[in-house]
Amino acid sequence: MDRYCVFGNPIAHSKSPEIHAAYAAQTGQALTYERRLAPVDGFADAVRGFIAEGGKGANVTVPFKLEAVKVAQALTIRARAAGAVNTLVFSEDGIIGDNTDGAGLVADIVNNAGVAIAGKRVLLLGAGGAVRGVVLPILEHRPARLVIANRTVSKAEELVAQFSALGGEGVVSACGFGDIEGEYDIVINGTAASLNAELPPIAPTVFAPGALALDMMYGPSPTVFLQFAGQHGARLRDGLGMLVEQAAEAFKLWRGVQPATAEVLQSLRAKL
Ligand code: ATR
Repeated sequence: MDRYCVFGNPIAHSKSPEIHAAYAAQTGQALTYERRLAPVDGFADAVRGFIAEGGKGANVTVPFKLEAVKVAQALTIRARAAGAVNTLVFSEDGIIGDNTDGAGLVADIVNNAGVAIAGKRVLLLGAGGAVRGVVLPILEHRPARLVIANRTVSKAEELVAQFSALGGEGVVSACGFGDIEGEYDIVINGTAASLNAELPPIAPTVFAPGALALDMMYGPSPTVFLQFAGQHGARLRDGLGMLVEQAAEAFKLWRGVQPATAEVLQSLRAKL
């Protein structure tokens, strides 16, 4: 049976094995998918060990997504743009590094929330790894504007320089939280602020009527960002859909079949 795994440290709480087991059952694919705790200084060895055991592919989570870029012998365009790898394919040609996080976010917005990105005003909060990973897939859907706002404005400006050269010229721009102008149809929180129950200091006027507010984090109760957005009339979405969709994208890459995600999302939600 083909073997897959997810590498991380810690890894015990990863939902990926449950998600991929559900996709495998649903699509009739014979595979196993396990958790692998890699030592913080032993990621590359752990990958090589898994390949030697016959592993066909792997997901990569915290803290190894940057190191996985180096372990990969070839990168997809979106992994190179993200500067991070969350999916590895062990092929006859070597180790291929991909990043399905951005595609997962976009699939959740477009297919699950039913909100088109094309022609919309999109505001991204944050400029760290989580945000960098989603910029290219969002730009590929041709938003009218994509504003990246961050506490440290220079980091947002660096992303704008990078993605202007990748087709975002005239669409993508940067600012600080206090300088956000206008209103947005889609507001995405990719800062780490939710982890500390903090709110990026944005004005409530950023939410256009009927805006979609999405936090890349998820948990049993809404993040402070989603609470704030809800108080100002936005439709709310947490990061669980993105998690399920990035897994579906990886599954498709490995197995060549697209799993259905709705039931898996519902079942994970019920267990939060
Ligand atoms: P990740 O890979 O999760 O994106 P990261 O690369 O460390 O992690 O980036 C964290 C992001 O959250 C950054 O945009 C950071 O802002 P700075 O670039 O100014 O550091 C943002 N962030 C973290 N804590 C925050 C807070 N309390 N309020 C607003 N932004 C915060």
